[in-house]
Amino acid sequence: FRFFRGLWRATYLSVLVGGAYLAYSIYETRYPQEQVEPDPTKKTLVVLGTGWGSVALLKKLDTENYNVIVISPRNFFLFTPLLPSCPTGTVEHRSIMEPFRHIIRHKKGTVKFYEADATKIDHERRVVIVSDNSDIKGDIHQTEVPFDYLVVGVGAENATFGIPGVKEHACFLKEIGDAQKIRKKVMDCIETAMFKDQTPGEKERLLHMVVVGGGPTGVEFAAELQDFFEDDLRKWVPDIADSFHVTLVEALPNVLPMFSKTLIEYTEKTLNEEKISLRTKTMVKKVTDKTIEAEVTMPDGSKQYQVLPYGCLVWATGNAVRPVVRDLMSQIPAQKNSRRGLAVNEYLVVDGTDGIWALGDCSATKYAPTAQVASQQGAFLARLFNNMAKTQNLEQELKHLEEIKAESKVQEDQEAIDKEIAKKSKAIRKVKTLSPFEYTHQGSLAYIGMERAVADISWWNGNVASGGSLTYLFWRSAYLSMCFSTRNRILVALDWMKVKIFGRDVSRY
Ligand code: FAD
Ligand code: NAI
Repeated sequence: FRFFRGLWRATYLSVLVGGAYLAYSIYETRYPQEQVEPDPTKKTLVVLGTGWGSVALLKKLDTENYNVIVISPRNFFLFTPLLPSCPTGTVEHRSIMEPFRHIIRHKKGTVKFYEADATKIDHERRVVIVSDNSDIKGDIHQTEVPFDYLVVGVGAENATFGIPGVKEHACFLKEIGDAQKIRKKVMDCIETAMFKDQTPGEKERLLHMVVVGGGPTGVEFAAELQDFFEDDLRKWVPDIADSFHVTLVEALPNVLPMFSKTLIEYTEKTLNEEKISLRTKTMVKKVTDKTIEAEVTMPDGSKQYQVLPYGCLVWATGNAVRPVVRDLMSQIPAQKNSRRGLAVNEYLVVDGTDGIWALGDCSATKYAPTAQVASQQGAFLARLFNNMAKTQNLEQELKHLEEIKAESKVQEDQEAIDKEIAKKSKAIRKVKTLSPFEYTHQGSLAYIGMERAVADISWWNGNVASGGSLTYLFWRSAYLSMCFSTRNRILVALDWMKVKIFGRDVSRY
């Protein structure tokens, strides 16, 4: 009896503490404190982008030490790992968006934000040319922003490899707008297939959903779409049950190349069980409004040209360099051999420049373009800028002490000042010794459908590979804990609960 009473008390206490913590974090989020106004004597640090890299930098940066200006066409941070769940409504888009205004309003020193695209970085004049490309424009919609220090974190755009028809006919999956477009298109294809007297051939085409690219984006989205069909669409639109069909197309011999061989095999087996048609060794060469044309490598090594009709096409073939980055690269001779983005040194300084750093998908490093890399680079740059500010402050104090020492005539005072100078010099040496950026790989996770996931996790000095339903629970808890804020965590958890209870919404809006 005592044991149960103890257990009850412990549970009661932890619920109380948990509730109080939750209430405090909600209160803190809703009522930010007063901020320190910018100091014109401080250096201006301009940050481009509000993605994984830039936001990780801002999170840890002491914004009182600089006049910080952020420029991005997106006034929110997007938690991309859950983006493939958005087009099917498993997660609502606002649940994975964190308003950027919330983020900067919680910083001690004021941060300025301009919703605009950086269209050109003039590294010699040290200005960024920015342009407001939103629907509503004021009298001034293009201007220049001067900088002392610049961090480029503009990410990447979708790679199309110049394949004809992709830009015109395919949907991408990088931004919230893309997810909404896919959602509309899938539902439109279904309702159009159900139109009175629709021909069987046209019905087959409209209900054929093709995903090109067997990287994690393509696999996760194909899996989510098939789940949507099995759990909801099949029930609410029974007439499509025999024709709705998801195909995943990949140029390489297998999907998810970054995972271990066992997990690749497990993923392909699961996709097969889900009845997703997997077409590997199939390189798409052309896209029209109703078909994709691909070169298929046959088992005997010969090539065959095939045409596949589709209703909705999602293109997920990786990253390409953004125009603003390409333009900057073309201005700097040291960048002439770089292809994947801005070449940087081990402190993320853009090669051939002074006072310009790059991070995340727009930089070319030995690491994969992932959120993990971008956020660790952001945290590293925050440490670097905080150290730079500390060094400058200490150097100023040192200079001041040396001036006092020069004026002082008393031996005892001079000795005390000498001690202080030695202390400051030691502190300067300490803050100046920042090691170069080192990436720590935590592992890779991907959802593969039917409430299963695959994980390659770094554990001690080795790797743990696992796949299945338990890994799916791990995937969900890991992503929930990684969400940006308590608000995001609660919204995502509620979305998952809502889908479990009521299913996904099949309306088109
Ligand atoms: P981004 O996060 O893309 O941010 C770029 C920012 O720059 C944006 O705010 C954008 O609006 C802004 N910008 C664009 N152009 C300009 C301009 N001209 N001027 C100023 N600002 C500009 N990685 C993982 O590690 N794990 C995952 O599970 C995972 N899942 C993913 C799922 C999907 C669907 C996608 C698309 C990617 C996923 N990634 C994942 C990859 C990850 O999202 C990227 O590697 C990461 O976003 C890179 O961060 P970044 O800061 O470099 O760029
Ligand atoms: P990706 O670059 O990882 O994969 C793209 C795939 O498309 C490649 O396998 C490529 O062979 C294939 N491809 C290219 N051209 C093709 C063509 N013409 N026809 C057929 N196939 C073609 O791209 P993805 O998935 O968009 O990922 C981008 C980055 O984001 C990667 O670094 C990835 O690791 C990361 N990411 C990580 C996730 C996770 O960890 N769960 C989820 C999504 C993205």
